[in-house]
Amino acid sequence: MTLDGRIATARGESRWITGAAARATAHGLRASHDAVLVGVGTVLADDPALTVRDAAGADPARVVVDSRLRTPPTARLLTAGGARVIVAGLTTAPAARRRRLERAGATVLGLPAVDGRVDLGALARALAGEGVTSVLVEGGGEVHASLLGAGLADEVVLHVAPRILGGRRGGPAWVGGDEVPRLADAHRLALHAVAFAGDDLILTLRAPRISDIAHTRARSRRRGPGRPAPPPASGR
Ligand SMILES: NC(=O)c1ccc[n+]([C@@H]2O[C@H](COP(=O)([O-])OP(=O)(O)OC[C@H]3O[C@@H](n4cnc5c(N)ncnc54)[C@H](OP(=O)(O)O)[C@@H]3O)[C@@H](O)[C@H]2O)c1
Repeated sequence: MTLDGRIATARGESRWITGAAARATAHGLRASHDAVLVGVGTVLADDPALTVRDAAGADPARVVVDSRLRTPPTARLLTAGGARVIVAGLTTAPAARRRRLERAGATVLGLPAVDGRVDLGALARALAGEGVTSVLVEGGGEVHASLLGAGLADEVVLHVAPRILGGRRGGPAWVGGDEVPRLADAHRLALHAVAFAGDDLILTLRAPRISDIAHTRARSRRRGPGRPAPPPASGR
């Protein structure tokens, strides 16, 4: 992503924001997971292959969250080789699209909905049933927002390029979805590691432990909606 948190330009250009070293790191991450997952928005915008090319290691399974099965059977995921492809749709998705994707080689899952979209908790359980127990999520912003909202992300790895796109109506941010209205309700992550890859920065953040979340929520409830949070202890 850019320094201002964008993962594409307003015209949809996303290749490449980061440099070769960061991309090699990303491919290494792919190889260290059972599966790599994207939303159908990313498939339609970028038509990615999601294979391991710039690092050593095996290709992970590819998973697309795609409520209505809009993934084209001609997508590179299905035509350019690589490991198995799982398309996670809703039980209500059109049967003809399901058959078309299956003919193209995909495994199609029918899952329950949350707010009209794939229930990501149900997907995690279904993937575990398929032997997939570690998943690298590579976008886009809508899927990232749902995962953060559902508390399903253990770790966040941000590849930050020293570029700024700016603009009032710019390209998509790495977290889309609905804006969190109050600062006190912002998603909180703990900085775990900082590294360089060429000119880019790699930030690794971890989800706070459940006990920390309970503590913060209890404190926020005690303060009530109208009272501001106390200032942070350090200037950071
Ligand atoms: N720079 C990068 O590394 C990078 C990486 C990835 C993407 N991108 C960019 O990100 C953009 C695409 O991102 P996007 O946010 O539009 O799409 P996205 O997150 O890839 O996909 C969102 C779509 O997934 C489907 N979906 C199903 N279940 C969902 C759930 N529980 N939560 C959220 N979505 C769910 C929804 O469509 P249905 O309702 O039809 O199912 C939704 O519209 C493109 O511009 C692409 O270039 C950049």
